[in-house]
Amino acid sequence: MQVLSVASECAPLVKTGGLADVVGALPGALAGQGVRMRTLLPGYPAVMGVLSDAQQVGWFDDLFGGGARLVQGHAAGLDLLAIDAPHLFARPGGPYIDPDGRDWPDNPERFAALSWVGAHVATHGADGWHPQVLHGHDWQAGLMTEYLRQMGGRTKTVLTIHNIAFNGSTDPGRLQSLRLDPWRFHTEGYEFWGSISALKAGLMGSDALTTVSPSYAEELMTPEFGMGLEGVMQHRRYALHGILNGIDDSAWNPATDPAITRYDSPAGKAAAKAALQAELEMPRAEGPLYVIVSRMTHQKGLDLVLQILPDILDQGGQLAVLGSGDPGLEHAFRQAATNPNVSVRIGYDEPFSRRLIAGGDAILVPSRFEPCGLTQMYGLRYGTIPVVALTGGLADTVINASPAALAQGVATGVQFSPVTAEALCNALARLGSLYRDPETWLQLQKNAMTQPVGWAQSARAYAQLYADLTGPE
Ligand code: ADP
Ligand code: GLC
Repeated sequence: MQVLSVASECAPLVKTGGLADVVGALPGALAGQGVRMRTLLPGYPAVMGVLSDAQQVGWFDDLFGGGARLVQGHAAGLDLLAIDAPHLFARPGGPYIDPDGRDWPDNPERFAALSWVGAHVATHGADGWHPQVLHGHDWQAGLMTEYLRQMGGRTKTVLTIHNIAFNGSTDPGRLQSLRLDPWRFHTEGYEFWGSISALKAGLMGSDALTTVSPSYAEELMTPEFGMGLEGVMQHRRYALHGILNGIDDSAWNPATDPAITRYDSPAGKAAAKAALQAELEMPRAEGPLYVIVSRMTHQKGLDLVLQILPDILDQGGQLAVLGSGDPGLEHAFRQAATNPNVSVRIGYDEPFSRRLIAGGDAILVPSRFEPCGLTQMYGLRYGTIPVVALTGGLADTVINASPAALAQGVATGVQFSPVTAEALCNALARLGSLYRDPETWLQLQKNAMTQPVGWAQSARAYAQLYADLTGPE
């Protein structure tokens, strides 16, 4: 089975969030299922600069405003196709923003170009290679189905929704610059409340839709989580599959992680915690050390943690945070860090994130919505008990420490609902009592560390989906 994955980010080359981890992990996870997955990426400097054995396999005279080469090559064990289009992608800053943090004004065209090339490779192949399935990720790949239709391509299409909050909407005045068929600017096509929506196009036009957890698949059909697209999701419910993300459990393994004081059982966590407290110049404390590794946005519910910080500290707890994003949240966390039992680092730092996850007793993920979430799974793997909101993938990956689950020996974390400061506070009180009971706590850590969080099951689900779409070979 030959599959072309099309995405705007891919770890370890370009990453702003979990999307990159998933796009980077899928090819390896699927290789064992007989799927050869190649990944099409924009030719950002971080991609073009690391491609080995690069070879031109295509040329576009005018790819949304300039000439572009299609290049194949390898990097970080990935089999890549990259769009070398300097007028679109050879820019400083992140994949979507300029060095001052503002969105590039031509983002609609930049990712239309990604989608265009994806459709082109599906229709015409690349150096004799023809994918049987075109698998796009999020709005940046949403227009693929429109272009495929224009090109007369018949390749089967899958679109994965990692976060429906970003729908790639833009002004209808851009119809021409996006090379869209104006006759399809209607509700059955890519029109969304008077705008052009790249995500809507892909949701309506793809043969199959997936999202990154079964619970989020259900939530997407409700007004609370569908972000205005719930009607579209209901309309396409029979094409929608919730396939839980995994994590790369060899790269995230406390027994081999070079970034930490390694351990292979809960007993080894004490040294990792002591090392972290020393690094953060935190005193030893009675209560648990809570950690957070997160984008700082409304989605992630970190304002709730600020609200209950006095309770955490009153109960002898400590808090260590790594993240960046909303300036207001960054400022509030920095202010909170004047307390010796609170440590805050604003920025992005993967090795440090690993030391936090290894050294913490519990990891907080109080998201208002969470399509899947990865850090709670890192927590499980490292025996760092997740305290999570009961939503999306957080609901599907953590087994709440209810009396029944504790008695059965299957509990792995603490869940709370609704997503309010009060419910979070109660959850931390529950966690505190578990923490003060060493036998129960040890059992919880053991359960967490042995809960499967890898890709095995989900890789089979994707392979089955591709097989169902393409039929017998
Ligand atoms: P989202 O994609 O919504 O941000 P996920 O939990 O799916 O949420 O993925 C976030 C990814 O980004 C994880 O791999 C997490 O460890 C990483 N991450 C987030 N913030 C930071 C940070 N400040 N430093 C290092 N890694 C981070
Ligand atoms: C999105 C979601 C996150 C998910 C990630 C990878 O960024 O916010 O919940 O884990 O995509 O699918």
